[in-house]
Amino acid sequence: MNQEQQIVLTGFMGVGKSTVARHLAFILKCEKVDLDSVIEETERRTLAEILDSDGEARFRQIETENLRKILCSSKARIIALGGGAWTIKENRELIKQQQFITVWLESSFEHCWLNIVNSKRTRPLAKNKRLTRKLFDEREKVYCLADWHFIVKPDLTSYEIAKKIAEEVFLIKIN
Ligand code: S3P
Repeated sequence: MNQEQQIVLTGFMGVGKSTVARHLAFILKCEKVDLDSVIEETERRTLAEILDSDGEARFRQIETENLRKILCSSKARIIALGGGAWTIKENRELIKQQQFITVWLESSFEHCWLNIVNSKRTRPLAKNKRLTRKLFDEREKVYCLADWHFIVKPDLTSYEIAKKIAEEVFLIKIN
């Protein structure tokens, strides 16, 4: 694996993409970008405000515009996607075109749900457990199109997951 390879992290809400991206950037000593944060900065609104006032379809357009910008112009080697970004075909094509590789962080629904309910962030697309589980089940078959797949077991810390990615994807030996 080319040590300069750029990657995107995908996976369901609450799996820990942003935290793993932060640790991985620290380990690899490189820049990382969080797509959701970029959207909030450029729109000057929270994701919840965008989703609640403009609806999901408009949110997805904004998401794709920002993803395209980051993929084409950012120097970041690691991009943490929002949970729905990889489910959009246009986004997957953009990611491939720009030769990023994709790492899917997979966990059980219960693990993600626990993180969602314990999080300070409002997630309009995860308002109740039943509908969120449905979304989780529907998305599994799209997430598995990613190039790499790491299972996030509840006993692993985000740092340990980042370390595994650094070792297995980037072939970096960490003591
Ligand atoms: C979404 C996930 C969120 C955010 C938005 C939509 C989704 O990101 O992009 O609320 O469709 O799964 P996280 O996965 O970081 O929560």
